[in-house]
Amino acid sequence: MLVSVVSLKGSPGVTTFAVALAASWPSAGRALLVEADPSGGDLAVRLGVPAALGLVGVAAAVRHGCDAEALWRHSRQLPGGLGVVVAPPDAEQASGALRALAEGVDVIRAAADQSDTVVVADCGRMDPGSSAMAIVQRSDVVVLLSRAHAEDLAHLLNRLDAVGRWGRRAVFLLAGTGYSTVEVAWALGVAPLGRVPWDRVGAAALWGRSRRGLARSALGRFAHKLAVELTSRTPEPAELSIVPPSAQPAALAVATKGDLEGRWTP
Ligand SMILES: Nc1ncnc2c1ncn2[C@@H]1O[C@H](COP(=O)(O)OP(=O)(O)OP(=O)(O)O)[C@@H](O)[C@H]1O
Ligand SMILES: [Mg+2]
Repeated sequence: MLVSVVSLKGSPGVTTFAVALAASWPSAGRALLVEADPSGGDLAVRLGVPAALGLVGVAAAVRHGCDAEALWRHSRQLPGGLGVVVAPPDAEQASGALRALAEGVDVIRAAADQSDTVVVADCGRMDPGSSAMAIVQRSDVVVLLSRAHAEDLAHLLNRLDAVGRWGRRAVFLLAGTGYSTVEVAWALGVAPLGRVPWDRVGAAALWGRSRRGLARSALGRFAHKLAVELTSRTPEPAELSIVPPSAQPAALAVATKGDLEGRWTP
């Protein structure tokens, strides 16, 4: 399965949640985090490892054709064990690598299609023309994160229906403080599936040696719930989707009934 995590504005915690989601994936699966942010990666610096072997290495390899294991070969392990393919911090290098990947063998999809495997791609902020768009469009699920302040919601309003068409399935999550989930659903005509807890302890646990700290944290529990939900069943067409109200009023009614919100509010 290929899951892209994206934002449309600001920095609502895309990298943090993408790592949490991959690290919280149900144990039977092999999980890999790919930093595919065209504005440059953070993880190489954070881990103190050279970025050259990560995304840039994969991009070089696909020019010669490569197999589904190529992503794994170019991954590093976080202290807790999660494999990550780091992007270079430099935006030009990162977007260059992403463009090369889009033109070569689809190594990300090939890895994601292996049994019991999830590839979580941190695609960063999806500006028009983003070089991560090819990955997003090939994703099984696009997870959109947004803060819930007026300026963030104003940006979402006109682009939500487009996001709903990017991948096969779209999941809309709020992050942090701001308007309530119900207020956002009312203003946008789209019910967020939930709200990523703002949890400094959980965010810090991502970089620790033990996964137990993350598993116990509000952030880890929320990420695990989403992972289980994404692996467990095929959603009803309207249930988890971003549904433009004008296009599908009936589906919107299903999405705003509150059942999902009740289950997902941490
Ligand atoms: N759920 C969270 N709880 C607590 N802190 C968080 C959470 N998500 C992110 N943070 C903190 O907020 C900061 C920015 O997070 P992060 O790098 O994940 O955002 P981003 O959306 O990927 O930003 P960028 O646009 O720079 O890629 C980091 O210091 C991170 O630790
Ligand atoms: Mg980021």
